[in-house]
Amino acid sequence: MGRWLVLGGTLFLSKAVAATAVARGHEVVCAARGASGGTPAGAKLVAVDRNEPGALDPLRDERFDAVVDVARMSYGWARSAVEALAANTPHWTFVSSISVYADPSAIGGGPDDELLAPRTDETTDMEAYGAIKVASENAVRDAAGDRALIVRAGLLCGQDDVSDRFGYWPNRFSRGGRAVVPDAPGQPAQIVDVLDVADWIVRSGEEHVVGTFDASGPRSTLGAVLEEIAEAVGAPGLERVPVAPDALVTAEVQPWSGPRSLPLWLPDSHAGMTARDTSAAAAAGLRCRPVADTARAALEHERALGLGRRERRAGLTPEDEAGLLG
Ligand SMILES: NC(=O)c1ccc[n+]([C@@H]2O[C@H](COP(=O)([O-])OP(=O)(O)OC[C@H]3O[C@@H](n4cnc5c(N)ncnc54)[C@H](OP(=O)(O)O)[C@@H]3O)[C@@H](O)[C@H]2O)c1
Repeated sequence: MGRWLVLGGTLFLSKAVAATAVARGHEVVCAARGASGGTPAGAKLVAVDRNEPGALDPLRDERFDAVVDVARMSYGWARSAVEALAANTPHWTFVSSISVYADPSAIGGGPDDELLAPRTDETTDMEAYGAIKVASENAVRDAAGDRALIVRAGLLCGQDDVSDRFGYWPNRFSRGGRAVVPDAPGQPAQIVDVLDVADWIVRSGEEHVVGTFDASGPRSTLGAVLEEIAEAVGAPGLERVPVAPDALVTAEVQPWSGPRSLPLWLPDSHAGMTARDTSAAAAAGLRCRPVADTARAALEHERALGLGRRERRAGLTPEDEAGLLG
């Protein structure tokens, strides 16, 4: 069994990676502040703050068989990690995003599609997210090209999701009654369970899978995904009430995420983000569970947070929804 370093490990995907690696018998070190939570049982936390210069210096003399970095939006973090640790590491996974592509409307594209121009500045402006991921990927390839797995993740869903996006639907459907849904059943939709990506990352490290992949589930439609969620966790008597996209726009309902939004709904300008060709990742071992299983895991997480909680990062409030139905 190997020795793994997870840069992160206290939240969502990186925590799932650490837990999976422990379950598969590896020795796992997580490097994070510990501010977002604890590491999974069996993993060791080394406290580091990646905003501090030389943050990873305490790990420089250690030897790891595989490193997984989830640096979300910092070229500086991604570059300084490979500079400090990649030379001695046989397998390096960097978690990127399908937001790297120049044309988010392109349907059915793959990893060779044109990318955004890289950005290396430090900013919290989410407009820069994809461009910073491009620069971060380049830094990883420069330092560890033949040992690097670049995982361009699609919409991660399920257990411990911090974004409140996918979970809105199992939550809403489980409460029954009349639920507003976008009248866009044919819109592309594509999700992936966080545990499936974590499992693939760990197996890829073990089997030395390298290269750049779009990592998401099979292509589907919004209508089919909402149907699967409703069948899995919908309350008896749930009525899905389609509202035309134009009416949603007029009512200032946001697509995709954020307050007063309908998650998974996308304008045509971004429909390609949930219509990637993920066959290469599937051929390289990414196995995706049914949407129904992800819906049940997401509902369990939503229940733990409180189904009726007022503070959500995404979705409609009951008042928003009543206004639309009225
Ligand atoms: N969510 C999606 O649908 C989606 C889609 C595509 C791609 N992605 C990518 O998938 C990855 C998700 O990673 P994730 O789920 O683990 O969540 P994340 O929010 O990207 O990463 C969180 C980890 O980073 C650590 N961290 C934050 N600030 C830190 C600091 N100053 N110093 C050291 N560690 C720090 C956190 O630990 P502490 O706070 O405890 O320090 C935590 O363990 C990201 O790369 C994201 O861009 C996500």
